[in-house]
Amino acid sequence: MTDPFTSSAAPGRNESEAPVKVTVTGAAGNIAYSLLWRIASGDVFGADRPVDLRLLETPGRVRAAEGVAMELADSALPLVAKVTVTEDQREGFDGTNAAFLVGAKPRGKGESRADMLEANGRIFVEQGRAINDGAAQDIRVLVVGNPANTNAYIASKAAPDVEPERFNALMRLDHNRALSLLAEKLGVSTPHIDGLVVWGNHADTQFPDIEFLRVAGQEVAGDVDRKWYEDEFIPRVAKRGSEIIDVRGSSSAASAASAAVDHMRDWVRGSGARWVTVAQPSKGEYGVDEGLVFGFPTVGVNGRWTIVEGLDLNDFQRERIQANIAALKEEAGVADSLLR
Ligand code: NAD
Ligand code: LMR
Repeated sequence: MTDPFTSSAAPGRNESEAPVKVTVTGAAGNIAYSLLWRIASGDVFGADRPVDLRLLETPGRVRAAEGVAMELADSALPLVAKVTVTEDQREGFDGTNAAFLVGAKPRGKGESRADMLEANGRIFVEQGRAINDGAAQDIRVLVVGNPANTNAYIASKAAPDVEPERFNALMRLDHNRALSLLAEKLGVSTPHIDGLVVWGNHADTQFPDIEFLRVAGQEVAGDVDRKWYEDEFIPRVAKRGSEIIDVRGSSSAASAASAAVDHMRDWVRGSGARWVTVAQPSKGEYGVDEGLVFGFPTVGVNGRWTIVEGLDLNDFQRERIQANIAALKEEAGVADSLLR
């Protein structure tokens, strides 16, 4: 056995594996302040996999990102092989294997996420192009900045040489919010719940669907109080982002980082047979227009997502899925004008 006090090998770090190159945009922001430490602690790529972190910021905030890098150094985390702080998109995405596109303006009280498209959409044109030109072949992109689904659509369209399926948007936060409320209602812990999906857009139209819910392998949808489900659960999950802004005074940060960790971890290392919600470009599944970045029930196996297909949908479900298709088509119209 290696003695950690006398060996030159760092304890907990597999020196034979090349570091994963990970880009985090918005590195001086609130979400990144939690996300970077989770990545650097091995929660995403594995407890012994070294990471080469690229912290991308705007010129006005790059100094603050340097402060974040100083704190990462002060944490003496064994998996951190290298940290680069940059305002240069090309440097930020050069050879990168995984990109968390967080950098974007958050909405304030009374604003919708779609209102942020004008302010944030262009960021993803530029970053999509830089990813197209410089990222590694196995790049995985998770867009967190809002409106996340349409920003992922923009980044993918701006990167024509990268497979669209390599661009996802974060809806795992909505999924986790729904899981947590269900666990409380049903009196079970979250790992016992499966068969949950949040269809559609990370917006108020989103549809947290319990029709296929299983607890410890048993179907339970019929046991859930329908009035609670329709009048309380669905709107509570869909409006949780605004509720956090109202109560906390700023938008969710640690829970968003935690969901981003869950999403990228399951993408890279698998979700097993367990359903997770992944917003990904549609290939026409469930009648969703091709290319729209839509939340689907998904499992992660061998580094790829597979949408759970062939589910029998009732009118209640179809109506809500349609509302999300309509909203995303409208946002895509604005996005297409930014891409011209
Ligand atoms: P924040 O304002 O604290 O930080 C954002 C950072 O991004 C700032 O430091 C800013 O300088 C930087 N930035 C802006 N443009 C950039 C660019 N082109 N390149 C690199 N960096 C850039 O915001 P936050 O709380 O970290 O939230 C970031 C985004 O994530 C917001 O749009 C927010 O609405 C969104 N969000 C999404 C989810 C989700 O579930 N999808 C959850 C929470 C927050
Ligand atoms: C959230 O869902 O918490 C984020 O998208 C932030 C927001 O604007 O609601």
